[in-house]
Amino acid sequence: MTTSLLTRDISLGYGDRAIVSGLSLEVPDDSFTIIIGPNACGKSTLLRGFARLLRPTAGTVLLDGRELASFAPKDIARRLGLLPQSSIAPDGIRVADLVGRGRFPHQSAWRTWSRADDHAVSVAMAATGITDLSSRLVDELSGGQRQRVWVAMALAQQTKHLLLDEPTTFLDIAHQIGLMELFADLHRDGTTLVAVLHDLNHAARYATHLVAMREGAIVAQGDPREIITAELVEAVYDLPCRVITDPVAGTPLVLPLGGRTR
Ligand SMILES: Nc1ncnc2c1ncn2[C@@H]1O[C@H](COP(=O)(O)OP(=O)(O)OP(=O)(O)O)[C@@H](O)[C@H]1O
Ligand SMILES: [Mg+2]
Repeated sequence: MTTSLLTRDISLGYGDRAIVSGLSLEVPDDSFTIIIGPNACGKSTLLRGFARLLRPTAGTVLLDGRELASFAPKDIARRLGLLPQSSIAPDGIRVADLVGRGRFPHQSAWRTWSRADDHAVSVAMAATGITDLSSRLVDELSGGQRQRVWVAMALAQQTKHLLLDEPTTFLDIAHQIGLMELFADLHRDGTTLVAVLHDLNHAARYATHLVAMREGAIVAQGDPREIITAELVEAVYDLPCRVITDPVAGTPLVLPLGGRTR
């Protein structure tokens, strides 16, 4: 296994509060890595560390064999894209213009907007099903439409590594599956994806490498078929459940035992 994105013993936090301490994670190249874990366990914090939005207080992040800290910001943005958990669009911006912002890292003083940029924007909008929304104001979209615009912006950036923080939140079930399939296609075409998801069954179905976190640490990682067990789900979420085989995909299917079913 080769890995061009990894953390070595990193600690991350806010002010004096340590959230992640001494965490090492190697993202396998060409994997669809999915991170799961309870609210507030540090998943978004870890993604911010990978994207250098947060500087580690200890340890290092390596990208393409180099310390992340040594890259120019634009150089990182050409290699690695991040879809944050929540984003605020600039006032009065239209869909196509927001998606076009994903192209900024590819531009410079002597290389401004090009046909390649136009092409990347239309491909990203078509892939996320928002072509018809291109001239709408982002502020006036529904939550699910807006989420797909942000995903399109991240796709337009055309990076080898794509970090996605809860990309399917706010989406109806059909659009959730549509996006998961889109990510699976990107993965097949050579993008390395790292996504945070709350839906364990989607995670089990799509992840090639699953990482379970609790309280800022990795509890288990590996092939979802091997690591998702009732014991693991209970250890991570304190939630009693049964795990059966998903009759559609053959992957683990987690069925929580509520009070009524026990
Ligand atoms: N900007 C911030 N300033 C201070 N504390 C923060 C900040 N962002 C997150 N935290 C704290 O860090 C901890 C981990 O937050 P994080 O956002 O990484 O959790 P998460 O695993 O992504 O949770 P969720 O599933 O709810 O998105 C939480 O206790 C949170 O309150
Ligand atoms: Mg989060």
